[in-house]
Amino acid sequence: MARSLCQITDFSTDEIRELFDLCAQMKSKQIAPRPLEGKSVACIFTKASLRTRVSFEVGINELGGHAMYITDNEIKLGQRETVADAARVLSRYVGMIMIRTFKQSDVDELAKYASVPVINGLTDLVHPCQILGDYFTIMEHLGKKDRYKIAYVGDGNNIVNSWLNLACRIPIELRVGTADDCHPDSEILKKARQAEDSKILITADPKEAVSDADVVYTDVWASMGEKHRAEEKEDKLRKYQLNGSLLAAADPGAIVLHCLPAERNKEITDEVMDGPQSVVFDQAENRLHIQKAIMAFLLK
Ligand code: CP
Ligand code: NVA
Repeated sequence: MARSLCQITDFSTDEIRELFDLCAQMKSKQIAPRPLEGKSVACIFTKASLRTRVSFEVGINELGGHAMYITDNEIKLGQRETVADAARVLSRYVGMIMIRTFKQSDVDELAKYASVPVINGLTDLVHPCQILGDYFTIMEHLGKKDRYKIAYVGDGNNIVNSWLNLACRIPIELRVGTADDCHPDSEILKKARQAEDSKILITADPKEAVSDADVVYTDVWASMGEKHRAEEKEDKLRKYQLNGSLLAAADPGAIVLHCLPAERNKEITDEVMDGPQSVVFDQAENRLHIQKAIMAFLLK
């Protein structure tokens, strides 16, 4: 079994720090490794994507490889054949697999049976590449290595679960402002609460979450796996909108993050997204750099 990235907790703290160093060196063009020279990468998408699709394709090309965009129309993962068989077959053709899909168990299964690295490009449960890139963005803007006060307001979704996973590896204070029945995954939350150096707060009060924070983060109220619950989520999460008045509770030097795509003037107002504290497009750019680092790291 090759090394894969199914969740952030697949990496140790030292490995995550190594990834960030690699990312900085690649972004500044100090190094330009081509570990994918002569290899193809299967990029499987059973959900829509702009950033993940384009940043992976560009990154794969820059690492010397060839990206193959595969939708579920072709492979019907788990329907035409088992995920395990698809993993065994793909491993005979490609040097790496990237997958964005619904079920985390499909990614775990693929990684278990593939003999090449598998990278999770988002599931209903987690979005590891996003949060690794986001943490790199935070360090770039704010300069410290750890102990940030990170506030997240909105749905307790794959983004929050990934922040909780990161808290198991990097000391942070994570405050999640969300409605009672929009909490993150209970198992992931339990593990993060056991992390010695991180502090986790889940609160129904958005101001309590944001108060004095260094970073304020939000995401759509209804994720791709939950669009059928959009109206219900909107009703529950309206009071968690990231607007100017909520942001005023954060530290004056706080930065604003959103993984994008945003539903403007729902979870985040134009004023905040386009305001001076927003770094959302740096964040989007860093997806490219961190994913190149992740691929180079896994191919070592
Ligand atoms: N943030 C992110 O993963 O964007 P896409 O859904 O467009 O890939
Ligand atoms: N929580 C969002 C993230 C999109 C990048 C979703 O899963 O749709």
